[in-house]
Amino acid sequence: MSVGVVILAAGQGTRMKSALPKVLHKLADKPLVSHAIDTAKSLQADRIAVVYGHGGEQVLNTINDSNLAWVEQAEQLGTGHAVEQALPALADVDRVMVLYGDVPLIKQETLQALTDKAQQTELVLLTVNLDDPTGYGRIVRNAAGQVERIVEQKDAAPEELAISEVNTGILIADQSKLQQWIAKLENSNAQGEFYLTDIVAMAVAESIAVGSHQPEHEFEVMGVNDRVQLAELERRYQQVEAERLMRAGVTLRDPARFDLRGTLQAGQDVEIDVNVLIEGDVILGDGVQVGANTVLRNCRIAAGVQIKENCVIEQAEVGPEAIIGPFSRLRPDTKLAAKVHVGNFVEIKKSTVDEGSKINHLSYVGDAEVGKTVNIGAGTITCNYDGANKYTTVIGDNAFIGSDSQLVAPVEVAEGATIGAGSTITKNTPPNTLTLSRSKQMSLKSWNRPVKQPKD
Ligand code: UD1
Ligand code: CA
Repeated sequence: MSVGVVILAAGQGTRMKSALPKVLHKLADKPLVSHAIDTAKSLQADRIAVVYGHGGEQVLNTINDSNLAWVEQAEQLGTGHAVEQALPALADVDRVMVLYGDVPLIKQETLQALTDKAQQTELVLLTVNLDDPTGYGRIVRNAAGQVERIVEQKDAAPEELAISEVNTGILIADQSKLQQWIAKLENSNAQGEFYLTDIVAMAVAESIAVGSHQPEHEFEVMGVNDRVQLAELERRYQQVEAERLMRAGVTLRDPARFDLRGTLQAGQDVEIDVNVLIEGDVILGDGVQVGANTVLRNCRIAAGVQIKENCVIEQAEVGPEAIIGPFSRLRPDTKLAAKVHVGNFVEIKKSTVDEGSKINHLSYVGDAEVGKTVNIGAGTITCNYDGANKYTTVIGDNAFIGSDSQLVAPVEVAEGATIGAGSTITKNTPPNTLTLSRSKQMSLKSWNRPVKQPKD
């Protein structure tokens, strides 16, 4: 049974009060509509169509996925009309599933269960019972409990308004039946719209037993209409992800103060302190500890690494048992080998640092190749940029760079070399030798400290 998915995303989202189309607002750093698209993909849908609204080219251009069928619905004449626009793109599938672009947390398992039920019948609805069903279409059932029709809030009689089982909007229908039903839709209702929900009564009139399924969690079917709801669903998402990680063996000191905006692959006994933000694709090896207020973005941290508080690590690789922070910044293309120590107020960019080397305080290392067991003193700066071009600094194994030194690239400090504190190194230095560039120290006996002039 092949399945095509249509994702309705033409709504304006007026209540977002935004220049950005609603479905491009982000949840966990990913556009709302991409959540629905990725879930549809995880179902192995044979075809996915996205219905976008007038002026919604921004949606198409942002998502920019040529595997999707993009269908414009210039005027929003209702959910039935929206699905109709997508039918030509879904002509060759057996079943059509309808998802909403502003309902991001629907689970693959729920949709799979819905699809499984569609083996038995031509129409299956995803419904949910709500304490407050206001605003939703109500599921009207007969005395035997079979679905009869859906009535929209604005068209409902008082006794129908009391029904707590509502239409989530998500459904799956036989493709050819859907086409026949949609062709017969009329807009003679309170909103003057072509309601997709009217297909239910049509199916029942053909003696089709309309199926239904309920999601495990209510949040799966909640939509985003304003920024308050967006924030609520973001929290739900984070809660689910935090619980998943904890069950997989990650310690989160406080799951309510942890944010995952991408994917985290974590080894055994990883410990993450509060206010840590994980973005992009992050890999943490066994026993990695991440200190409070740290940001990890697209990086790979090997086993046994300790990252202390307040670090920002982006597009970098850290070798086993390294110690980073507090207050370290590792920028793109940084590669640290095993047991490297990087301390407070150290910034490293596009550099490799070999095993056991230490850069513990207040340094900038950029475009550098640092050897093994090198000690880089406090305040060392690689001057990698002349205002036009960038150059490389090479530091050999066992070199010792005295504090407050500048290494003006391109320059090479040979193996075992020592640089005296406060030096400005502009020429390559010989191995196992002390090199320093420093003005001579003097003391002036005749000098007197100035004193304040008395005021008259
Ligand atoms: C719809 C259902 C209602 C259900 C509710 C769940 C109908 C007639 N009603 O009502 O039974 O309880 O969803 O949230 O289907 N859209 C388009 N083009 C359109 C109209 C809508 O793409 O012409 C999209 C919207 O962007 C949105 C979704 O379809 O993502 C639902 O539309 P909305 O207007 O919110 O429907 P409701 O009135 O809430
Ligand atoms: Ca709605």
